[in-house]
Amino acid sequence: MIHTVPVSLAGRSYDVHIGKGLLDQAGRHIAPLLRRARTAVVADADVAALHGQRLLSSLSEAGIEARLLTIPPGEASKSFEGLADLCDRLLALELDRGDLIVALGGGVVGDLAGFAASIYKRGIDFIQIPTTLLAQVDSSVGGKTAIDTGRGKNLIGAFHQPRLVLADLDVLTTLPDREMVCGMAEIIKYGLLGDRAFCDWLGDAIPAVLAREPLALAEAVRHCVAMKAEIVAEDERETGRRALLNLGHTFGHALEAENAYGDALKHGEAVGAGCALAFRFAAATGLCPAADAEAAALLLARAGLPIRLDQVAGHPFSADRLVAHMAQDKKAEAGALTLVLVHALGDAFVARSVDAPTLRAFLQSEGATA
Ligand code: GLY
Repeated sequence: MIHTVPVSLAGRSYDVHIGKGLLDQAGRHIAPLLRRARTAVVADADVAALHGQRLLSSLSEAGIEARLLTIPPGEASKSFEGLADLCDRLLALELDRGDLIVALGGGVVGDLAGFAASIYKRGIDFIQIPTTLLAQVDSSVGGKTAIDTGRGKNLIGAFHQPRLVLADLDVLTTLPDREMVCGMAEIIKYGLLGDRAFCDWLGDAIPAVLAREPLALAEAVRHCVAMKAEIVAEDERETGRRALLNLGHTFGHALEAENAYGDALKHGEAVGAGCALAFRFAAATGLCPAADAEAAALLLARAGLPIRLDQVAGHPFSADRLVAHMAQDKKAEAGALTLVLVHALGDAFVARSVDAPTLRAFLQSEGATA
Protein backbone atom coordinates (compact mmCIF):
# COMPACT_ATOMS: atom_id res chain seq x y z
CA MET A 1 0.00 0.00 0.00
CA ILE A 2 1.24 3.48 -0.91
CA HIS A 3 0.53 6.40 1.42
CA THR A 4 0.54 9.87 -0.10
CA VAL A 5 1.20 12.95 2.02
CA PRO A 6 0.69 16.28 0.25
CA VAL A 7 2.94 19.23 1.06
CA SER A 8 0.76 22.28 0.44
CA LEU A 9 2.77 25.28 -0.74
CA ALA A 10 0.51 26.94 -3.32
CA GLY A 11 2.25 26.77 -6.72
CA ARG A 12 5.09 24.69 -5.26
CA SER A 13 2.96 21.95 -3.70
CA TYR A 14 4.06 18.35 -4.12
CA ASP A 15 3.34 14.83 -2.97
CA VAL A 16 5.41 12.52 -0.81
CA HIS A 17 4.64 8.90 -1.71
CA ILE A 18 5.59 6.34 0.95
CA GLY A 19 5.50 2.58 0.47
CA LYS A 20 7.13 -0.54 -0.86
CA GLY A 21 8.19 -0.96 -4.49
CA LEU A 22 8.29 2.75 -5.36
CA LEU A 23 11.71 2.52 -6.98
CA ASP A 24 10.29 0.15 -9.59
CA GLN A 25 7.38 2.53 -10.19
CA ALA A 26 9.53 5.65 -10.29
CA GLY A 27 9.33 6.03 -14.09
CA ARG A 28 5.59 6.35 -14.17
CA HIS A 29 5.56 8.81 -11.25
CA ILE A 30 8.28 10.95 -12.81
CA ALA A 31 7.23 10.88 -16.49
CA PRO A 32 4.30 13.32 -16.06
CA LEU A 33 6.68 15.89 -14.52
CA LEU A 34 9.07 15.95 -17.50
CA ARG A 35 8.87 18.29 -20.47
CA ARG A 36 11.16 16.05 -22.49
CA ALA A 37 11.97 12.44 -21.73
CA ARG A 38 15.41 12.84 -20.22
CA THR A 39 16.87 13.31 -16.77
CA ALA A 40 20.03 13.06 -14.67
CA VAL A 41 20.13 10.84 -11.59
CA VAL A 42 22.63 11.87 -8.88
CA ALA A 43 23.71 9.16 -6.43
CA ASP A 44 26.79 8.27 -4.44
CA ALA A 45 28.79 5.30 -5.65
CA ASP A 46 27.44 2.97 -2.91
CA VAL A 47 23.77 3.80 -3.48
CA ALA A 48 24.29 3.70 -7.24
CA ALA A 49 25.63 0.14 -6.93
CA LEU A 50 22.70 -0.95 -4.73
CA HIS A 51 19.74 0.80 -6.35
CA GLY A 52 20.90 2.67 -9.47
CA GLN A 53 20.10 -0.01 -11.99
CA ARG A 54 16.56 -0.57 -10.71
CA LEU A 55 15.82 3.14 -10.96
CA LEU A 56 17.34 3.41 -14.44
CA SER A 57 15.31 0.39 -15.62
CA SER A 58 12.12 1.90 -14.26
CA LEU A 59 12.86 5.21 -16.00
CA SER A 60 13.74 3.46 -19.23
CA GLU A 61 10.49 1.44 -19.14
CA ALA A 62 8.67 4.78 -18.95
CA GLY A 63 10.60 5.96 -22.04
CA ILE A 64 12.89 8.29 -20.07
CA GLU A 65 16.56 8.57 -21.05
CA ALA A 66 18.51 8.87 -17.80
CA ARG A 67 22.19 9.49 -17.09
CA LEU A 68 23.59 8.38 -13.75
CA LEU A 69 26.04 10.85 -12.17
CA THR A 70 27.90 9.28 -9.25
CA ILE A 71 29.66 11.24 -6.53
CA PRO A 72 32.02 9.95 -3.81
CA PRO A 73 30.12 8.73 -0.70
CA GLY A 74 30.40 10.88 2.41
CA GLU A 75 29.90 14.40 3.72
CA ALA A 76 33.04 15.69 1.90
CA SER A 77 31.03 15.76 -1.35
CA LYS A 78 28.81 18.49 0.15
CA SER A 79 31.42 21.15 -0.59
CA PHE A 80 31.96 24.02 -3.04
CA GLU A 81 34.25 21.68 -5.01
CA GLY A 82 31.62 18.93 -5.09
CA LEU A 83 28.98 21.45 -6.15
CA ALA A 84 31.17 22.86 -8.95
CA ASP A 85 31.94 19.37 -10.19
CA LEU A 86 28.26 18.35 -10.21
CA CYS A 87 27.16 21.56 -11.97
CA ASP A 88 29.86 21.03 -14.59
CA ARG A 89 28.64 17.51 -15.26
CA LEU A 90 25.03 18.69 -15.53
CA LEU A 91 26.14 21.36 -18.03
CA ALA A 92 28.05 18.74 -20.01
CA LEU A 93 24.80 16.76 -20.27
CA GLU A 94 23.17 19.91 -21.67
CA LEU A 95 20.34 19.69 -19.21
CA ASP A 96 17.88 22.53 -19.75
CA ARG A 97 15.72 24.48 -17.37
CA GLY A 98 12.75 22.39 -18.42
CA ASP A 99 14.51 19.17 -17.38
CA LEU A 100 14.85 17.83 -13.87
CA ILE A 101 17.38 16.18 -11.60
CA VAL A 102 16.69 13.08 -9.52
CA ALA A 103 18.49 12.86 -6.15
CA LEU A 104 18.80 9.17 -5.20
CA GLY A 105 20.37 8.76 -1.76
CA GLY A 106 20.62 10.01 1.79
CA GLY A 107 20.96 13.52 3.15
CA VAL A 108 24.29 14.29 1.47
CA VAL A 109 23.03 13.59 -2.05
CA GLY A 110 19.66 15.24 -1.39
CA ASP A 111 21.29 18.40 -0.03
CA LEU A 112 23.95 18.62 -2.76
CA ALA A 113 21.78 17.73 -5.76
CA GLY A 114 18.95 19.89 -4.40
CA PHE A 115 21.27 22.88 -4.01
CA ALA A 116 22.73 22.30 -7.48
CA ALA A 117 19.13 22.22 -8.80
CA SER A 118 18.37 25.52 -7.05
CA ILE A 119 21.18 27.36 -8.88
CA TYR A 120 21.62 25.41 -12.13
CA LYS A 121 20.57 27.81 -14.91
CA ARG A 122 18.90 29.86 -12.14
CA GLY A 123 16.83 26.93 -10.97
CA ILE A 124 15.72 23.57 -12.29
CA ASP A 125 13.25 21.08 -10.82
CA PHE A 126 14.36 18.10 -8.79
CA ILE A 127 12.94 14.95 -7.25
CA GLN A 128 13.99 13.30 -4.02
CA ILE A 129 14.26 9.52 -3.76
CA PRO A 130 15.59 9.18 -0.19
CA THR A 131 17.37 5.92 0.60
CA THR A 132 17.99 6.32 4.34
CA LEU A 133 15.40 6.35 7.11
CA LEU A 134 16.68 9.74 8.25
CA ALA A 135 16.28 11.24 4.77
CA GLN A 136 12.82 9.68 4.36
CA VAL A 137 11.44 11.15 7.59
CA ASP A 138 13.23 14.48 7.52
CA SER A 139 15.76 15.84 5.05
CA SER A 140 14.04 14.89 1.76
CA VAL A 141 10.89 16.85 2.67
CA GLY A 142 10.71 20.62 3.07
CA GLY A 143 13.18 21.99 0.55
CA LYS A 144 16.24 22.70 2.69
CA THR A 145 19.32 22.24 0.49
CA ALA A 146 22.90 23.11 1.38
CA ILE A 147 26.61 22.48 1.27
CA ASP A 148 29.20 22.75 4.07
CA THR A 149 32.18 25.08 4.35
CA GLY A 150 35.25 25.01 6.59
CA ARG A 151 33.26 27.24 8.97
CA GLY A 152 30.41 24.82 9.51
CA LYS A 153 27.76 22.52 8.11
CA ASN A 154 24.91 23.63 5.85
CA LEU A 155 25.96 27.27 5.96
CA ILE A 156 25.55 27.86 2.21
CA GLY A 157 22.27 26.76 0.70
CA ALA A 158 18.80 27.56 -0.51
CA PHE A 159 15.18 26.69 0.07
CA HIS A 160 14.25 24.75 -3.07
CA GLN A 161 11.26 22.44 -2.84
CA PRO A 162 11.34 19.14 -4.73
CA ARG A 163 8.55 18.39 -7.24
CA LEU A 164 8.02 14.92 -5.78
CA VAL A 165 9.40 12.67 -3.04
CA LEU A 166 9.39 8.88 -3.43
CA ALA A 167 10.15 7.14 -0.11
CA ASP A 168 10.53 3.46 -0.98
CA LEU A 169 10.52 1.42 2.24
CA ASP A 170 12.12 -1.55 0.44
CA VAL A 171 15.44 0.27 0.10
CA LEU A 172 15.71 0.34 3.90
CA THR A 173 16.22 -3.44 3.96
CA THR A 174 19.85 -2.94 2.90
CA LEU A 175 20.42 -0.02 5.27
CA PRO A 176 22.97 -0.74 8.04
CA ASP A 177 21.42 -1.07 11.53
CA ARG A 178 23.37 1.96 12.74
CA GLU A 179 21.69 4.09 10.06
CA MET A 180 18.27 2.78 11.15
CA VAL A 181 19.06 3.90 14.71
CA CYS A 182 20.05 7.34 13.36
CA GLY A 183 16.74 7.63 11.52
CA MET A 184 14.99 6.60 14.72
CA ALA A 185 16.46 9.66 16.47
CA GLU A 186 14.65 11.98 14.05
CA ILE A 187 11.46 9.90 14.34
CA ILE A 188 11.49 10.16 18.14
CA LYS A 189 12.28 13.87 17.77
CA TYR A 190 8.90 14.41 16.07
CA GLY A 191 7.07 12.87 19.01
CA LEU A 192 9.14 14.76 21.56
CA LEU A 193 8.59 18.13 19.89
CA GLY A 194 4.92 17.97 19.18
CA ASP A 195 3.01 14.72 19.65
CA ARG A 196 2.77 12.98 23.00
CA ALA A 197 0.45 10.27 21.61
CA PHE A 198 3.10 9.42 19.00
CA CYS A 199 5.62 9.08 21.87
CA ASP A 200 3.24 6.58 23.50
CA TRP A 201 2.94 4.64 20.21
CA LEU A 202 6.73 4.66 19.78
CA GLY A 203 7.16 3.28 23.29
CA ASP A 204 5.83 -0.03 21.95
CA ALA A 205 6.76 0.26 18.27
CA ILE A 206 10.48 1.12 18.35
CA PRO A 207 11.73 -2.50 18.11
CA ALA A 208 9.33 -3.22 15.23
CA VAL A 209 10.39 -0.10 13.32
CA LEU A 210 14.07 -0.95 13.81
CA ALA A 211 13.36 -4.51 12.63
CA ARG A 212 11.77 -2.96 9.50
CA GLU A 213 8.40 -4.62 10.15
CA PRO A 214 6.38 -3.24 7.22
CA LEU A 215 3.33 -1.87 9.06
CA ALA A 216 5.28 -0.24 11.89
CA LEU A 217 7.87 1.20 9.50
CA ALA A 218 5.24 2.61 7.14
CA GLU A 219 3.31 4.17 10.02
CA ALA A 220 6.43 5.75 11.53
CA VAL A 221 7.55 7.28 8.21
CA ARG A 222 4.02 8.39 7.26
CA HIS A 223 3.41 10.02 10.63
CA CYS A 224 6.69 11.97 10.62
CA VAL A 225 6.28 13.10 7.01
CA ALA A 226 2.72 14.25 7.76
CA MET A 227 3.97 16.26 10.76
CA LYS A 228 6.78 17.77 8.72
CA ALA A 229 4.46 18.58 5.79
CA GLU A 230 2.10 20.39 8.13
CA ILE A 231 4.90 22.42 9.73
CA VAL A 232 6.58 23.26 6.40
CA ALA A 233 3.25 24.32 4.86
CA GLU A 234 2.79 26.76 7.74
CA ASP A 235 6.38 28.04 7.93
CA GLU A 236 8.39 27.19 4.81
CA ARG A 237 11.26 29.61 5.52
CA GLU A 238 11.65 28.87 9.23
CA THR A 239 10.55 32.22 10.57
CA GLY A 240 8.64 30.48 13.37
CA ARG A 241 7.39 26.98 14.07
CA ARG A 242 9.71 25.14 11.67
CA ALA A 243 12.57 25.87 14.08
CA LEU A 244 11.02 23.29 16.42
CA LEU A 245 12.26 20.61 14.01
CA ASN A 246 15.71 21.49 15.31
CA LEU A 247 15.00 20.01 18.75
CA GLY A 248 18.22 18.36 19.93
CA HIS A 249 20.17 19.79 16.99
CA THR A 250 22.00 22.66 18.72
CA PHE A 251 23.36 20.36 21.45
CA GLY A 252 23.89 17.73 18.75
CA HIS A 253 25.83 19.99 16.39
CA ALA A 254 28.16 20.98 19.23
CA LEU A 255 28.89 17.27 19.89
CA GLU A 256 29.39 16.67 16.16
CA ALA A 257 31.71 19.68 15.87
CA GLU A 258 33.83 18.30 18.74
CA ASN A 259 34.11 15.10 16.68
CA ALA A 260 35.09 17.15 13.61
CA TYR A 261 31.88 15.81 12.01
CA GLY A 262 33.61 12.44 11.65
CA ASP A 263 32.08 9.00 11.48
CA ALA A 264 32.67 8.29 15.19
CA LEU A 265 29.48 10.24 15.92
CA LYS A 266 26.75 10.20 13.32
CA HIS A 267 24.26 13.05 12.99
CA GLY A 268 21.34 10.93 14.23
CA GLU A 269 23.30 9.79 17.29
CA ALA A 270 24.18 13.41 18.07
CA VAL A 271 20.51 14.41 17.70
CA GLY A 272 19.49 11.58 20.05
CA ALA A 273 21.90 12.72 22.76
CA GLY A 274 20.95 16.33 22.00
CA CYS A 275 17.25 15.65 22.59
CA ALA A 276 17.99 13.97 25.93
CA LEU A 277 20.17 16.95 26.94
CA ALA A 278 17.56 19.51 25.83
CA PHE A 279 14.93 17.77 27.99
CA ARG A 280 17.22 17.52 31.01
CA PHE A 281 18.31 21.16 30.64
CA ALA A 282 14.65 22.18 30.49
CA ALA A 283 13.95 20.06 33.59
CA ALA A 284 17.01 21.47 35.42
CA THR A 285 15.83 25.03 34.78
CA GLY A 286 12.26 24.31 35.90
CA LEU A 287 10.70 24.49 32.44
CA CYS A 288 9.66 20.85 32.14
CA PRO A 289 8.73 18.05 34.58
CA ALA A 290 11.68 15.76 35.40
CA ALA A 291 9.43 12.77 34.67
CA ASP A 292 9.04 13.93 31.05
CA ALA A 293 12.81 14.26 30.67
CA GLU A 294 13.15 10.69 31.98
CA ALA A 295 10.45 9.45 29.59
CA ALA A 296 12.20 11.12 26.64
CA ALA A 297 15.54 9.55 27.58
CA LEU A 298 13.87 6.14 27.94
CA LEU A 299 12.49 6.30 24.40
CA LEU A 300 15.86 7.35 22.97
CA ALA A 301 17.70 4.64 24.91
CA ARG A 302 15.20 2.03 23.74
CA ALA A 303 16.24 2.88 20.17
CA GLY A 304 19.90 2.35 21.12
CA LEU A 305 20.76 6.04 21.04
CA PRO A 306 23.22 7.73 23.43
CA ILE A 307 21.46 9.76 26.13
CA ARG A 308 24.40 10.83 28.33
CA LEU A 309 27.62 12.63 27.45
CA ASP A 310 29.73 9.66 28.58
CA GLN A 311 28.00 7.54 25.90
CA VAL A 312 28.93 9.99 23.14
CA ALA A 313 32.11 9.62 21.05
CA GLY A 314 34.57 12.33 22.04
CA HIS A 315 33.78 12.20 25.79
CA PRO A 316 34.96 13.96 27.94
CA PHE A 317 33.78 17.27 26.47
CA SER A 318 34.65 20.77 27.61
CA ALA A 319 31.55 22.73 28.66
CA ASP A 320 33.18 25.95 27.44
CA ARG A 321 33.81 24.52 24.01
CA LEU A 322 30.31 23.07 23.72
CA VAL A 323 28.73 26.41 24.68
CA ALA A 324 30.99 28.21 22.18
CA HIS A 325 29.77 25.88 19.39
CA MET A 326 26.16 26.38 20.48
CA ALA A 327 26.56 30.17 20.34
CA GLN A 328 27.66 29.87 16.69
CA ASP A 329 24.65 27.85 15.64
CA LYS A 330 22.66 29.12 12.64
CA LYS A 331 19.71 29.78 14.94
CA ALA A 332 21.76 32.04 17.20
CA GLU A 333 20.85 35.69 16.70
CA ALA A 334 23.51 38.37 17.33
CA GLY A 335 25.47 35.94 19.49
CA ALA A 336 22.55 35.25 21.87
CA LEU A 337 22.07 31.56 22.63
CA THR A 338 18.89 30.21 21.10
CA LEU A 339 17.77 26.67 21.88
CA VAL A 340 14.73 24.55 21.19
CA LEU A 341 13.54 23.55 24.66
CA VAL A 342 10.45 21.84 26.02
CA HIS A 343 7.60 22.48 28.43
CA ALA A 344 6.63 18.80 28.35
CA LEU A 345 6.78 15.65 26.26
CA GLY A 346 5.32 16.77 22.92
CA ASP A 347 5.53 20.50 23.64
CA ALA A 348 8.68 22.20 22.34
CA PHE A 349 9.33 25.91 22.05
CA VAL A 350 12.13 28.22 20.93
CA ALA A 351 14.00 29.68 23.92
CA ARG A 352 15.86 32.87 23.07
CA SER A 353 18.63 34.48 25.13
CA VAL A 354 19.47 31.31 27.05
CA ASP A 355 21.88 32.16 29.85
CA ALA A 356 25.34 30.87 28.94
CA PRO A 357 26.65 30.40 32.53
CA THR A 358 23.52 28.36 33.40
CA LEU A 359 24.02 26.20 30.31
CA ARG A 360 27.72 25.76 31.13
CA ALA A 361 26.92 24.71 34.71
CA PHE A 362 24.31 22.27 33.42
CA LEU A 363 26.80 20.66 31.00
CA GLN A 364 29.30 20.30 33.86
CA SER A 365 26.60 18.62 35.96
CA GLU A 366 26.23 16.24 32.98
CA GLY A 367 29.92 15.30 33.15
CA ALA A 368 31.56 17.88 30.90
CA THR A 369 34.81 19.37 32.15
CA ALA A 370 35.17 23.14 32.56
N1 GLY B 1 15.51 19.29 9.29
C1 GLY B 1 14.81 20.41 9.78
C2 GLY B 1 14.02 21.12 8.74
O1 GLY B 1 13.89 20.66 7.62
O2 GLY B 1 13.51 22.17 9.00
